Amino acid sequence: MWHFYCQNILYGEDALNFLEKIKGKKCFIVADKVIEELGLLKILTDKLDKFEKEYQIFTEVVPEPHEDDVLKGKEQCNKYKPELIIALGGGSVIDTAKAIWAMYEYPEYTINNIDPLSDEMYDFANKAKLIAIPTTSGTGSEVTWATVISRLQNNVWRKMSMSHMVLVPTFAILDPVFTMGMPPKLTVGTAFDSLAHSLEAYISMWKNEFSNAMGLKAIELVFKYLPIAYKDGGNKEARDHLHQAATMAGLSFGNSQAHLAHALGHSSSSIFHIHHGQSVGLYLPYIIQFCLNAPGENNESIILYSELAKKLGWANWDDDAKKAAFSVVSKLKELQNSVDFKSNLKDLGVSIEDFDNNLETLVSLFFQDPSGVMAPRIPNKKEITRLYQCAFEGKDVDF
Ligand SMILES: [Fe+2]
Repeated sequence: MWHFYCQNILYGEDALNFLEKIKGKKCFIVADKVIEELGLLKILTDKLDKFEKEYQIFTEVVPEPHEDDVLKGKEQCNKYKPELIIALGGGSVIDTAKAIWAMYEYPEYTINNIDPLSDEMYDFANKAKLIAIPTTSGTGSEVTWATVISRLQNNVWRKMSMSHMVLVPTFAILDPVFTMGMPPKLTVGTAFDSLAHSLEAYISMWKNEFSNAMGLKAIELVFKYLPIAYKDGGNKEARDHLHQAATMAGLSFGNSQAHLAHALGHSSSSIFHIHHGQSVGLYLPYIIQFCLNAPGENNESIILYSELAKKLGWANWDDDAKKAAFSVVSKLKELQNSVDFKSNLKDLGVSIEDFDNNLETLVSLFFQDPSGVMAPRIPNKKEITRLYQCAFEGKDVDF
């Protein structure tokens, strides 16, 4: 038996109007200062005013949310006692809201109590529903059951991925009005996060037909619409489809698993402060090569990626499976070039000294990150060191 986790998804122009139909008057809004400055918060509060809902706003969320800020949000939320928690923002905001939601339902909880194996947590959402309104098109957090919160350990902000299936937001509202103003760099970075979610989930050990159906469509949409949105941020059709693609990719990896690019990407974000989408998107071609190069007969990643490439028209139906599978790597590199995506650490400005000084820590963080465990090929210490070196130099992975 397999359980495909999916709550309610409202999408397209004016999807925000669905707020009127959701029961509950008192709303606790989780956002950040940038969302407020961009005027996106006002779009939401204007609607809440129109629908005669009350609200209190918490905007203390920072990128890569820190545990202390989440606890501040918990305190404010528990005092206000809302019926609805509304997360308006990118992945950091939605992740923060999920953690606040858990600690509102269970006030005695700390972050550590959010445990995927907790039976107690199945008795959930008795006080509030969570509405996630993403303002970027990438993290998929609006439909996943994980929350990534950073904790300071040994002078490094270590990302902890806490999860439970009840943390899937009750409603995901995908209104493209919130993404129209995203700058090109963020548009590209978040789209590559979607691609990493779909492409990694496609070959993960937990892959399944439902997750791969979502992943395949998400990949198709990102390849079609990212170059358009990159050139013309005001293109509504492209924005709408990239927004849908991000959520499909979220359903894909939320019901399967992202793995190596995320484990490598998380470590690099922690050390070099690289944006999540840029970081995981950078590692994607390298880890795909690594998985396709797995020794032995019957490499399932080759079969799966060759079928994907043929379905997307990247390879001919009668092409050899290995050749077709490797076309995924060349197509990714083509897309990266077309939208000026930095494809190695050196081009991102990481110096050789900085890289060498941190290589051991990167490797250590990789092995502490649970994201990597569902990869179809698990690298050993020597291989992971070489993967980092290839990604630093921009060299193909031939092992
Ligand atoms: Fe991601």
